[in-house]
Amino acid sequence: MALIGIMDSGSGGLSVFREIRKVLPQERYVYFADNAHCPYGSKTTDYIQDRLRRITNYFLWRGASVMVLACNTATAAAIEMLRREYPIPFVGMEPAVKPAALGTRTGVIGILATAGTLKGSKYLTTKGRFEGNVRIEEHVGQGFVELVEKGELTGLHAEDVVRKSLVPLLDEGADRIVLGCTHYPFLLDTLRKVAADSGHADVEFIDPAPAVARRLAGILEENGIPLTDGYPGTELLSSGPRDNLIMLACGRDSSLCP
Ligand code: DGL
Repeated sequence: MALIGIMDSGSGGLSVFREIRKVLPQERYVYFADNAHCPYGSKTTDYIQDRLRRITNYFLWRGASVMVLACNTATAAAIEMLRREYPIPFVGMEPAVKPAALGTRTGVIGILATAGTLKGSKYLTTKGRFEGNVRIEEHVGQGFVELVEKGELTGLHAEDVVRKSLVPLLDEGADRIVLGCTHYPFLLDTLRKVAADSGHADVEFIDPAPAVARRLAGILEENGIPLTDGYPGTELLSSGPRDNLIMLACGRDSSLCP
């Protein structure tokens, strides 16, 4: 019987978890938000690797048969190390550069992500494959993670924060924006409003979460991990305060509630 461990630096990974639940509604899940150590985006690789070892040890102790890093920054810093050191399969986040590059009409795509993700070798390799065919503009979503962790998803202040990182990409001509951090989909309403207010209502935001959910289903099948037979459930855990986690998991999307 599969127990699936899902982690993020905070509540952002719930944007991946809700897609996973659509594909695999009957499984047993433990979601761990490492929000006492959030944001990961400005931390060193060593720091993030140490956090991931601790979280993985906990999931293994709980009997998890697979683990999802629902965090682009943790994937960039630690997934290769985890695959070397631990016996279970790991599913990580993929920056959705390919669908953006294939869909752009202006020939310019924008990437919003944390500093840690943008300097990671996985992103740089993917970027190298597509650069040349399209122009790739990047911006750190400065302050985005903090907004989501506070539950401040809309409003004038959220728009001001989002505008500073998004508008430079739109001004460069980007018509596809990759959400390269799992917190950012929670800001979609604000991202769309700011884009429309600056004359770019037709820009498309690309969230890799549905593809990651399908990848997890494939990994379960490839590894012969049996699906749950009758007792699905979700546990939400955190290393810091739980209020925002519960609000984002249950308040706005009650399907995530056990
Ligand atoms: N959700 C994480 C990511 O996808 C957040 C990063 C952070 O904690 O800075 O990168």
